[in-house]
Parts: sequence; C-alpha cells; structure tokens
Amino acid sequence: MTGAEMETQMFEGKDNTMTVDEALRTRRSVRGYTDQQVPEATMREIFEVAQTTPSNCNIQPWIPHVVSGAALERLGQRMVEAAKQGVPPDPDFFAARKFTGTYRDRQIDAAVQLYGAMGIDRNDRPRRDWAYRRNLEFFGAPHAVFIFMHSDFEAREAVDLGMYAQSLMLAMTARGIASCAQGALGLYCGITREELGLDDSHRLIFGISFGYEDTTYHANQARVGRATLGESVVFHD
Ligand SMILES: Cc1cc2nc3c(=O)[nH]c(=O)nc-3n(C[C@H](O)[C@H](O)[C@H](O)COP(=O)(O)O)c2cc1C
Repeated sequence: MTGAEMETQMFEGKDNTMTVDEALRTRRSVRGYTDQQVPEATMREIFEVAQTTPSNCNIQPWIPHVVSGAALERLGQRMVEAAKQGVPPDPDFFAARKFTGTYRDRQIDAAVQLYGAMGIDRNDRPRRDWAYRRNLEFFGAPHAVFIFMHSDFEAREAVDLGMYAQSLMLAMTARGIASCAQGALGLYCGITREELGLDDSHRLIFGISFGYEDTTYHANQARVGRATLGESVVFHD
C-alpha cells in the first residue's frame, strides 16, 4: 500500500472515538475473556491501522499470525500439555531472568496485585502453576496474535515489533477490545511453529491474547501502577 493510500484509509472516519491519551490510559492487561469473537471487519481494521507503526528504514519486520477457533484450541492444548508434563520451554528469545533491586520490587508488586485479585497465596505452588498455565490457554480469549520476525533480525528489529504490539493493543482498546501481551506465548516456539506450519526462519518474540473482557473474572480486578515521572524521566537542559 502506498503512503497516500494509507492516509486515505486512516481518515475514512473509522468507528472509534478515543483520543490517543484515552487509549493509553484505558489499556491494561486483561486475563479473563468471554468467548465472543471479534468481528472480521473489526479485526481487519485493527491490523490495518497497526500497519502504520514506524520501523527502522520502514522495513516493517513484524510477521503477525492471528490464530482463532480450532487452531487456537489445538495450540493451547498442546502447550498446556507440554507444561503439565514438564517439557522444557524452547523460547527463541526470552531466557528466564532474575530481576534485582527496583525491577524486582516492581515485579513482586505486579505479582502481588494479580495473585491477590485471584485469591492465590504466594506459597500456594499448585494454584500459582495453574495461574501460569492459563497463559498458555490464552486466558480464555478467542484470538491470539503471535508476532514473529525473520531469524536474521536482532534487538533493533525487536524494538519495531514492540512498537507494533503497542499499536495493535491501542487500536484494540479504542474499539473496546481487551488484550494481554504475553512473553509466555513465546515459550513453546517449536510447538507453535509446528502448529502454524512455519520453519525456523520465523523467530517468535511474544504473543497477544485478545477478545472481549469478562468483567466478572477475578484476575481482571488487578491493577498495577507506574513509577512517577520523577523516578523515570531525566530531562536535560
Ligand atoms: C512483552 C510483554 C510480555 C508480557 N508477558 C506477560 C505474560 O507472559 N503473562 C502475563 O500475564 N502478562 C504479561 N505481560 C503483561 C505485563 O505483566 C503488564 O503489561 C504489566 O504488568 C503492566 O500492567 P498493564 O498491562 O495492566 O498496564 C507482558 C507484557 C509485555 C509488554
């Protein structure tokens, strides 16, 4: 699509009325969904508008695979089974990392909020494992997008994929569609590639589950905060 065609499409008056600020402040990770499907036209709008994401030299390195229905169910079942049987994950990028200092504090706070909302005690290993496995079932969402890039690419292109993911999530938010970015969906890359019929030239960064929020689901009551401006941003004069 040419730049001019993209602009025409962008200003055709799509059915979303949120400002960017509203979408940024409204989006949050949702971990419980209804089984209502996102209409195909809405799905196309979201992925079309996300194509406007900037990237280094405009190479647009993201390769999103959107999975729904029986394909999603099969993939979820295989990942959950692997986790239950203790099959070691084979992520392309995310090795397990131990956070320290402030980063560890933030990680703990997020876990406290989530497990607190779900009524899971910190030391309750079986229920924590169950909560983790819900990642692999997409938290009950009817759709997930797996974001791949070519195996030649590294951190610079991964940044573009991160921006693309945020574009997608904001476009979803503006249309009342909830989402959760999940590193956990990049854990079983072998299974995922196999199910999607992809070869090793596709490297998986992470996935995003999406659909309509089940507002009654306990995990969705969790809220996490952010560092203040003073703790985060350094202004130079
Ligand atoms: C790249 C990335 C990977 C993430 N992986 C997971 C995940 O595997 N499971 C999960 O429940 N949440 C995951 N999250 C969601 C974060 O926990 C969440 O964004 C963070 O706690 C801030 O909360 P908020 O999204 O509600 O604002 C991930 C987010 C990002 C951006």
